[in-house]
Amino acid sequence: MVVTTKTEAQTLALGRRLGRLLKGYDVVCLDGDLGSGKTTLTRGLAKGLGSCNRVASPTFALARIYRSPRWLIYHLDLYRVSADQTRDIGLEEFTSDPRGICVVEWPQAGEAYYPKDRLEVRLSHLKCGRKLRFIGKGPRSRAIIRRLGVN
Ligand SMILES: Nc1ncnc2c1ncn2[C@@H]1O[C@H](COP(=O)(O)OP(=O)(O)OP(=O)(O)O)[C@@H](O)[C@H]1O
Ligand SMILES: [Mg+2]
Repeated sequence: MVVTTKTEAQTLALGRRLGRLLKGYDVVCLDGDLGSGKTTLTRGLAKGLGSCNRVASPTFALARIYRSPRWLIYHLDLYRVSADQTRDIGLEEFTSDPRGICVVEWPQAGEAYYPKDRLEVRLSHLKCGRKLRFIGKGPRSRAIIRRLGVN
């Protein structure tokens, strides 16, 4: 499924709708160029899950944790992290936490730790706005996309 957003507010709103559909064990990989809206989408997503925490780019922290009434949101940014370095970040614990939802920017280096059934979002720049392509890698993530489409 492809969605285009013309403004930051639209990307936030899309993130909010996506967040409402997520639950524990879900993994969302956000793949896209610098400034394509990964953190913006995550900000909306955390809101949709009911979190009041401030969502900031975890580029230097690698991982940030936000709380929502039911879930923990693990927000990772693996920009410039190599596959070897991912061992110490805690991805294994994050993805095996029943209360945990993982959102990963620049996800390539963590490939070994994600479940097969994960939601991939590929973001790219348009002349005016952003394009977000949603790819479901299994039945759970495809169901999320279906619901997102009819919302
Ligand atoms: N349609 C749009 N959707 C999202 N962001 C937009 C849009 N139009 C403009 N922007 C702007 O683009 C920027 C996107 O930044 P953001 O930090 O979300 O990107 P990112 O993909 O996380 O970048 P990085 O690769 O550095 O982590 C924001 O400043 C936002 O205001
Ligand atoms: Mg970012």
